[in-house]
Amino acid sequence: MKVAPSILSVLDQDLDQVLKTLEDANVEYLHLDVMDNVFVPNITFDYNLVKELKPKTKMILDTHLMIANPDELIDEYIKTKSDYLCFHIEAAKNPKEIIKKIKDNNLKCAVSIKPKTPVSEIEPYLQDLDLVLVMSVEPGFGGQKFMVDMLEKVKLLKKLKEEKNYNYLIEMDGGLNNNTAVLAKEAGCDIIVVGTFLFNSENIKETVKELESIWK
Ligand code: DX5
Ligand code: ZN
Repeated sequence: MKVAPSILSVLDQDLDQVLKTLEDANVEYLHLDVMDNVFVPNITFDYNLVKELKPKTKMILDTHLMIANPDELIDEYIKTKSDYLCFHIEAAKNPKEIIKKIKDNNLKCAVSIKPKTPVSEIEPYLQDLDLVLVMSVEPGFGGQKFMVDMLEKVKLLKKLKEEKNYNYLIEMDGGLNNNTAVLAKEAGCDIIVVGTFLFNSENIKETVKELESIWK
């Protein structure tokens, strides 16, 4: 299982230094939490920061769009060349069109579902997705408590993937730590987003190694 650090909790730090620390820790995925203060009651950054970060790192950019108007802004995010573009099904007017635009530009498409959104909402799109992001907290803030009920969605997504031969990766986001990461792995996660737990830890490199070595 891979770790995708979320920089939400270190936006006040020197991001060049954060990138270096994460690359020294052999991190492969970088989770970028875009928030517009409309879809979620918080604001972070937009496509300008994503565009700035892309040439600075070899890490795979996993951009999480917590925005109210992905249909209108997806072209701007495609221009950033972010490796993964993940939009929320709850905000999309025409998910199929957004997915098509992302794939037509040879980027990987992902859809995220909030805690109250069932897997059935995204079932029609699963065959086209490269990644599904299951929120294990209400989106908007780091440092929240992991919602264990969300593990059922991961188990269902894993079952559907095996039954129908889908290709998406399964990612969980929110409240992941050394304990909840074991549950996520057991349920079938391929990637976990970790923010607070990782950046509060004594040794980032050790913590990444510990989380990625969970074998269950
Ligand atoms: C919340 C974000 C998460 C969050 C994870 O809306 O999508 O990526 O930053 O933070 P932690 O790991 O602190 O729960
Ligand atoms: Zn996120």
